[in-house]
Amino acid sequence: MEASSPEPGFDIPAPGRPSPEHPSPETTDEAAPDSADGLPEPEPGPTGRPRPQLPAPKPRTRHGDAVILALCNQKGGVGKTTTAINLGASLAELGRKVLLVDFDPQASLTIGLGINPNDLDTTIYHVMMQRDVEFDEAVIETDIPGLHLLPSNIDFAGAEMQLMNEVAREQVLARALAPAAENYDMILIDCQPSLGLLTVNALAAAAGVIIPLECEYFALRGVALLHGTILKVQDRLNPKLQIVGLLGTMYDGRTLHSREVLSTLVEGWGDAVFHTVIRRTVKFSEATVAGEPLSSYASGSAGADAYRDLAKEVLSRCPDA
Ligand SMILES: Nc1ncnc2c1ncn2[C@@H]1O[C@H](COP(=O)(O)OP(=O)(O)OP(=O)(O)O)[C@@H](O)[C@H]1O
Ligand SMILES: [Mg+2]
Repeated sequence: MEASSPEPGFDIPAPGRPSPEHPSPETTDEAAPDSADGLPEPEPGPTGRPRPQLPAPKPRTRHGDAVILALCNQKGGVGKTTTAINLGASLAELGRKVLLVDFDPQASLTIGLGINPNDLDTTIYHVMMQRDVEFDEAVIETDIPGLHLLPSNIDFAGAEMQLMNEVAREQVLARALAPAAENYDMILIDCQPSLGLLTVNALAAAAGVIIPLECEYFALRGVALLHGTILKVQDRLNPKLQIVGLLGTMYDGRTLHSREVLSTLVEGWGDAVFHTVIRRTVKFSEATVAGEPLSSYASGSAGADAYRDLAKEVLSRCPDA
């Protein structure tokens, strides 16, 4: 099954086929044509395509039926955790009830939200591996209204080995999250940098994948490998799994290299690449040290606004959330 096939519940542009409204970068060198209403087309953004005007996300009248998205890339340090924290906080700002799942024994997501993992007795590990532990016993309400965390700590490091002996070992997370889906609009799973059994669990539990990747050459090579794993999971475990989008992170528009990598990404993946691009700024590291999202640490910063744009783009691709 193709990663691009349409699924009810998502409105995802097809990878590799730039649409006429969003031409590929090589067609955008010409003067922008006037649109039908006589107004000039918007300027192309960093991805080389004009940024669409997205409608304001619809307010939720009730919470539930969460859309589960995995933030996934086996390459380390590409912005998965930063995206989980800041996309989650921006979705919460838009009135969504969001659960962040720290699915990494490094516990960067837990730490990045100001919680000391060593102080925790109950974590994702216990919810997954111990049948008598309820989801509610582990979940933590963060300081951001509407943003909750299922934390992790070093206990989780043993989970992969332990899972090997479980029945239906790839679906343990899906089962553990099922009761939570009734209470949230969006669940974001922050994966560890690997394509091992834990990541397969995340892909089996999710309806969609967001792939953050640093705007540098080696990032492009890793995406093909990840795509192969996603196709296998679609084929064998989770036919509804979709790639919701690829997100360029740590972008530096002053360097030709960053611009070329983004343009190559759009050539290969077309409109699956989010229009929103996250620029490189030290503010993200500062906010991590402060233990809060950028939207509260530096609410008016360009980085916080970029994740607000991403939240709107994600909701436009996941209308059910
Ligand atoms: N846009 C950005 N600009 C500058 N620094 C960033 C940006 N995004 C993330 N960082 C920093 O880069 C480092 C790695 O980011 P992050 O932890 O989000 O990556 P990750 O993909 O989750 O890593 P891992 O694979 O180890 O889990 C962190 O120090 C983070 O603060
Ligand atoms: Mg991480």
